[in-house]
Amino acid sequence: MTPFVSVLMLLLAVSRAQVTPVPDGGEEQASGSGEGPEETQTEDISVGILTSNKKSPKFLFEGDIQAPKTRNAMRCWYNSCLWRKGTDGKVSIAYKVSHQFTPEEVQAISNALKDIESKTCIRFVPRQNEYDYISVENKAGCYSYLGKTGGRQELSLQRYGCLYKGIIQHEFLHSLGFKHEQTRSDRDKYVRINWANMDQSMAYNFHKADTNNLNTPYDYSSIMHYGRTAFSRYGWETITPLSSANIGQRRHASYWDIRRINLLYRC
Ligand code: NI
Repeated sequence: MTPFVSVLMLLLAVSRAQVTPVPDGGEEQASGSGEGPEETQTEDISVGILTSNKKSPKFLFEGDIQAPKTRNAMRCWYNSCLWRKGTDGKVSIAYKVSHQFTPEEVQAISNALKDIESKTCIRFVPRQNEYDYISVENKAGCYSYLGKTGGRQELSLQRYGCLYKGIIQHEFLHSLGFKHEQTRSDRDKYVRINWANMDQSMAYNFHKADTNNLNTPYDYSSIMHYGRTAFSRYGWETITPLSSANIGQRRHASYWDIRRINLLYRC
């Protein structure tokens, strides 16, 4: 490849990033470093989460978002329910990990959070006596509340099934206020929802949300994007990207996932 062509392609890549959705692979800019081997991806994130949640007795929106007891979940979206920033410019979020987890499991959770901390102003701090905090539990399934609920809020990471870096980060991103990429307001330009391929009782999981997309592109590589067979009947495809992108990665928060945290919390 001549230098001219290389530069041209680079320019094309940069300009495309501004206007087109992010294909799978766009997250590599935000990939973790030096944290040991990445998990080999054998299944997508919604398969991992939704399979784990089959036995959950909870009512979960979109598969893994806990309905708040005291108010309408839909009101908590981007601008409300945010965690507060301290005078040091950092958003400190107290959390407590259940004693049921082994030291290795606690380490896995901590590593997934450190990855987010290293790229944002979010700081997850072990709870001392904070009133608002995230209680990380080994319950049946992987799920979280949306945003800060006030007081103790449960975030479940079931030992077998949820303790993967991507799933841990996915659930914590819910607790920061982020919903799923495939329900954002402009998703129909980027994915086709195949309503006939799901049990109709599952259709509510695909209702679009009136989201603040923070002027960021639709991100096929988001850790918050479900895979092709989420809520499927007979394994049929429910989400079809309108381009050749892969969806449902569960390795780690994407470049735009990280950017959005920084935009939302004005890091
Ligand atoms: Ni989720």
